[in-house]
Order: sequence, then structure tokens, then C-alpha cells
Amino acid sequence: MKIAIYPGSFDPITNGHLDIIRRSSKLFDKVIIGVLINVDKKGLFNIEERVELIERVVSDLPNVYVKSFQGLLIDFMRAEEANILIKGLRNVTDFDYEYQMALMNKKLDNEVETLFMMADSEYSYISSSSVKQVGKFNGNVEGLIPKCIIEDFQRKIKELRG
Ligand code: PNS
Repeated sequence: MKIAIYPGSFDPITNGHLDIIRRSSKLFDKVIIGVLINVDKKGLFNIEERVELIERVVSDLPNVYVKSFQGLLIDFMRAEEANILIKGLRNVTDFDYEYQMALMNKKLDNEVETLFMMADSEYSYISSSSVKQVGKFNGNVEGLIPKCIIEDFQRKIKELRG
């Protein structure tokens, strides 16, 4: 069984993430989306909300699962019996950062194989942080995040504004 992990913060999941997830689901028997529980950083959505939104977005992909994790990614991978790590690359800035992380993960666990997937040009400018900025200032987020989470996204932004 080829089990791959696609890790990230997903605050919120974007159409760029979804594209990588869809393409990965065709390549591996099982894809687990690992949502990082980051105790140092308060996000827009809490961890349960992020997992719930992603589950909704991937509900048509039967071999895709969503789980949260804390601590080292390689420990999560071992617990899930996965040795393939999927990372999406949008540009060279991503590459610089991801290359370093891939080497560190390899150093921590030699069995881990990081596979880079190029973001589709249609999505290569999208990031969760830019989506949040657009939302915060009432910009249109259609086409940036999955349709089925737009309402939750806008509600959350409004709540934060108070
Ligand atoms: O979507 P993000 O925030 O860019 O995802 C970053 C993530 C979750 C992939 C990264 O922060 C991570 O792997 N965190 C777990 C901690 C870890 O294992 N660090 C060692 C590798 S440098």
C-alpha cells in the first residue's frame, strides 16, 4: 500500500491545495492530509474547524483522509505508516524553504521520501495568507478557495471583525 502524507496549516484550504490533493489521490493508494496543530500561532480557523472544512472539500475523494498532528511530521508519518511526503511548489521561494525541510526530514528519518509536485499555473499565486488578506478587506475570494467553504470563510472573517 502506497500511503502519502500531504502536510500543512490549511488556514484555510485553497484551490491550490485542492489541486495537489486531487492529483496525489490518483497516484497513491491512500493520501492523508496532515493538519498541523501549531500551539504558537493562532489561526483564523481552529484545528477542528480546519479538519471539518477539508473533509467537506475532499468528500468526493474516497482514498483521501484528514487528520491533525502535533510535533514532528516524521513521527506522524511513522504513526500512519506512511513514507511518502507530498509538497506543492509554486515558485523558487517555496523551493528554497522546502528543499531545506526535505533534507531535515530525510536526516531525521532516512525512509522518508519527499515528492514535489508543481502547482498548476492557474493556482501558483494563491496562498492561505493572501486569501485571508483579500477576505479581511472584503475582496472577492471566488476561485481562490473551494466554493463549499466560502460561506464559512466569510462568516469567520466577520466574527473576527466583531
Ligand atoms: O502550510 P505550511 O504552514 O507551510 O506547512 C508547514 C508544515 C506543517 C509542513 C511544517 O511546518 C512541518 O512539517 N511542521 C512539523 C514540524 C517538523 O516536523 N519540523 C521538522 C522539519 S523542518
